[in-house]
This record gives sequence, structure tokens and C-alpha cells, in this order.
Amino acid sequence: MSTLAVTVDGLKLPNPFVIGSGPPGTNLNVISKAFKEGWGAVIAKTVSLDASKVINVTPRYGKLHSSDGKEVIGWENIELISDRPFKLWEEEFKKCKDLHPDGVLIASIIEEYRKDAWIEIVERCQACGVDGFELNFSCPHGLPERKMGAAMGENPDILSEVVGWVMGAAKIPVWAKMTPNVTHIEDPSRAALKAGANGISAINTIRSVIGVNLDTLRPEPSVEGYTTPGGYSSRAIKPIALRMVMEVAQLIRSEFPGRTLSAIGGVESGFDAAEFILLGADTVQVCTGVMKFGYEHVKPMCDQLLSFMEKHKFETPADFKGRSLQYFTTHADLVKRQADRKSAQKASGGSKVVKSDADWTGGDFVKQSDTLAR
Ligand SMILES: Cc1cc2nc3c(=O)[nH]c(=O)nc-3n(C[C@H](O)[C@H](O)[C@H](O)COP(=O)(O)O)c2cc1C
Repeated sequence: MSTLAVTVDGLKLPNPFVIGSGPPGTNLNVISKAFKEGWGAVIAKTVSLDASKVINVTPRYGKLHSSDGKEVIGWENIELISDRPFKLWEEEFKKCKDLHPDGVLIASIIEEYRKDAWIEIVERCQACGVDGFELNFSCPHGLPERKMGAAMGENPDILSEVVGWVMGAAKIPVWAKMTPNVTHIEDPSRAALKAGANGISAINTIRSVIGVNLDTLRPEPSVEGYTTPGGYSSRAIKPIALRMVMEVAQLIRSEFPGRTLSAIGGVESGFDAAEFILLGADTVQVCTGVMKFGYEHVKPMCDQLLSFMEKHKFETPADFKGRSLQYFTTHADLVKRQADRKSAQKASGGSKVVKSDADWTGGDFVKQSDTLAR
């Protein structure tokens, strides 16, 4: 019988479905709900040492609907990291581990470009018993104005230095979460892995403007008539996430075997998850999907992933992790493969192979006979 259980960086998850950092992991109540519903792990909303600097606005979301208006296909947010005091988070991390000792709880952390701040946040979260860290090098809006988040993640030198500080203090697994708003995601990923990160999480949201209101002429989401570019998520970003996860997986395979990959971006079903695992993911995170369908959604997702595995006789997710990476190649190689196939066809007579007696043609009779002889 197939099982969804996975072990990643020593962490034992009942299934590969992880709550991605964001509203679904924003306090102890909702994190507890996630564990009760059976999520494999929870990454809490990103925390920083001084929440007084975090001031959110309303509205902070904008949705893109399908043409019939029934489905949300894209979601923009200009939400910041957690605005709850760090002391409160320390209490809730501790309580969470008391209430759910087997639940895998990962703290998502962010700080300014100061070694002492990163070491302090690592040590204080670690003391609360969290099981792992995700380093937020990827928040695309608001935080970069303070030289944090994506401002660090798009600069491999800074990223490598910060990961080095964290690895000097962390005693638990560390994943570095990448921004997709770079030309080559391999560059910051390589810097984080070289500096010792156990794994990569990819991707955070894509910088976006969700739309312009044609009555008011104001871009959205409109806050007092103005806006700022936000982060795009949900189903619409899945193809971009698949491409970037594939690129990071190839990097891990060739340069950092054994390091892990947590895929994120538009996952809404167990079949989406199967695609990301086929491209090299160990775990699959869901953020906007939980906001659209609720915590209970993990159950159908597990069923769908299991049904995919049973169809192909895969016993564990590890059995098919990265299995589809072998089918990526260069365009030049595609051209060569196609030319080779065509010339082989020509050499075999350029005519159809005889499959039934009705296929014999007088002109190609000798070549057709020859083809059948090989
Ligand atoms: C409203 C909202 C808030 C988010 N907040 C955070 C955050 O605090 N830290 C973080 O690392 N990612 C944050 N994200 C990004 C998600 O974790 C995820 O990387 C991204 O949304 C793509 O996945 P999805 O399509 O499953 O949502 C947020 C996303 C949304 C939609």
C-alpha cells in the first residue's frame, strides 16, 4: 500500500502538504486547526523581532477572476509580515509544541541586515522548540523598502552572508525561501546552499499589479486612491513556479545532492502536488489555496496524491521525486531529436510501416518488405 509519509531533513511528516507562510499560519488558533485537519507541517506567518515597525493597510488583497467570474485564478497581496509582538509569538510557539508535540512547526523569520538581529531571532525561536526555520528572503513588497525580504534574496552576496550567520546559530533544519523576481533563481539558491542551508523553498509571490479600475482610473488594490505593486499568487502562477522549482531541482541534483526542496506556487490539488514532486520537490506548500478552500482541503489533496501514486504503483513520494526532470533538454537538442526521428523514418522508406495487409503499396513494395524484416 502506498504511503504519503515523508522524512525531510530529519523531520517526519505524515504527508508532504505544508501550510505556506501567510494568513493560514497567522496565530496559534489557526495553526492548531491545521494540525487537527492533518497537514504534514505548518510554516507560521513570518515573524520579526520588532513588530511595531509592521503596519498593514486595507484593502490589501486584489483578486483576478475567470471570465465567468466564478473562480479566483490570481491573487495579489500587499500584506506585510506578522504585525503581532514577537513575545506573543514566543508564547504561541511554545504552546503549539505542547499541544501538538508531533506536529512539525517551522518558524518563518526575517530580520534587518544585522548579524546580532538574525542570531537573536534564531536563538529565541529555537528556545521555543520550533522544528525548523524558513528564512524569508522573498517578500516582494513593503519589506524591501527596509532592505529586507526580496531585497536580500535578489543579492546573492548578502544572502550568503545572512545564511552563514543563521547556520552558525541554528541547531535545526533551515530552508531559504527564494523570490521569483530575479532572472535566474539558481544564483540566489546556489548562494544559500553554499552557505549551508539545508533546503530551498520556492517560490514566493511574483511582483504584480492586479488591475486598473476603468471608472476611477486608479490601480488596485486602491488604498486612499494609491497603490504599490504587490505579490501575485494562486493558480495563475503555477506554471512559473513549476519552471523555477525545476531549475532549483536541477541545481540541487548537480551541485548539492541531498539538499531538499519545498515547492510553492498555485497548488490546489494532489495532482498539482504530484507535478511538483515529479520536478524534484520533497514537500509542497499551499498558502492561497487554504484561503480559498479552507484547512479541510488537505484531505482531498491527500486522496488525489495517493490515487496518482497507486495508478503508477509508486509506494512513497520519494519513488517519483524528480522523475520528470530527465525530460528537460535544450531547444537545440529538441531540433536534433526531431531531425533524427525524421531521417530514421526516411531511411526506413519514408512510408508507413505495414500494419495490415491493406497498407501495402506497389511503389514502395521492396522498402516496405525491408522494414518488416528488421
Ligand atoms: C496574503 C498572503 C500573505 C503572505 N505572507 C507571507 C509571509 O508572511 N511570509 C512568506 O514567506 N510568504 C508569504 N506569502 C507567500 C506564500 O507563502 C507563497 O509563497 C505564495 O503565496 C505562493 O503560493 P500560493 O500560490 O500557494 O499562495 C503570502 C502570500 C499571501 C497570498
